[in-house]
Amino acid sequence: MLDKTIGFIGIGNMAAALISCICNKKIAKRIIASGKNAKNLDKLRKQFSIIISSNNRETVKNSDIVFICVKPQDMEVVLDEIGNAVSNQLIVSIAAGVKLNYLEKKLKTKRIIRVMPNINCLVGEMAAGFSSGDYATKSDVECISKILNSIGTAFLLKEDLLDAVGAISGSGPAFFAYFVKSFEEAGVKNGLKRDMAFKLAAKTALGAAKMMTEKNLQPDELIQMVASKKGITIAGLNNFKKYRLNQIIIKTVGAAIKRSKEMAK
Ligand SMILES: NC(=O)c1ccc[n+]([C@@H]2O[C@H](COP(=O)([O-])OP(=O)(O)OC[C@H]3O[C@@H](n4cnc5c(N)ncnc54)[C@H](OP(=O)(O)O)[C@@H]3O)[C@@H](O)[C@H]2O)c1
Repeated sequence: MLDKTIGFIGIGNMAAALISCICNKKIAKRIIASGKNAKNLDKLRKQFSIIISSNNRETVKNSDIVFICVKPQDMEVVLDEIGNAVSNQLIVSIAAGVKLNYLEKKLKTKRIIRVMPNINCLVGEMAAGFSSGDYATKSDVECISKILNSIGTAFLLKEDLLDAVGAISGSGPAFFAYFVKSFEEAGVKNGLKRDMAFKLAAKTALGAAKMMTEKNLQPDELIQMVASKKGITIAGLNNFKKYRLNQIIIKTVGAAIKRSKEMAK
């Protein structure tokens, strides 16, 4: 367990997921969080025995590491507010598109790391990327890597690749959920009860992911294990090819990356 206090500014979906994981896995000694919604703060306090505050500056002052978890459009207000309160804390921003050099300009500290997490950390299966500013120390990077890898898998990479990480693993849970929903709809259309179709689709997605990550199968190897020549699966896969599903997915990721760059500061 890290003998550090981790602060959270903003307690929305992603922050709550990170807090729950860090608490459940007893990763840090203390957590302090501040946000705008007193009711939600109190809920988190009761659920995870964390310290809460309605004041972002107090959170910063009492933390060793501060995760800023507000929407990109709210970053400027928060940075202006906490700017003077930051002394030697390590600042971690999870906001999509908000660049390290912008954060370095806005804050007194230069020890900054950007993380692109994903919501799957709620079930201990986060896939994340992170990027270190020039002034973060080797031990800062090791510390954040340790935290992230305790709640999933995280890769250290160059900042300009974080948009791609955001589009694949940050937004990815929603894209894969859309797939499951589409299979659910197909099941219903073909006579299955909705709940059963959903469970079949979601469990199949989970199992396929485990086959690739736990059995180390490449996607093509898994496809080969299921799709025999002239069989049922090939008939389905041919439809993916006919409608160029891979191109749709490449364009989908491209659209997400484009939006992330538009939002960049
Ligand atoms: N959700 C994801 O899957 C995901 C994945 C990767 C990265 N991210 C990044 O994570 C960040 C948060 O996303 P989210 O989905 O968790 O958004 P969210 O649920 O809307 O949470 C943002 C929170 O910040 C609070 N907030 C706004 N201004 C504040 C201020 N001045 N002081 C304190 N709190 C403030 C909001 O409160 P109010 O609602 O009361 O305004 C809200 O609770 C974003 O920058 C996003 O790019 C999210």
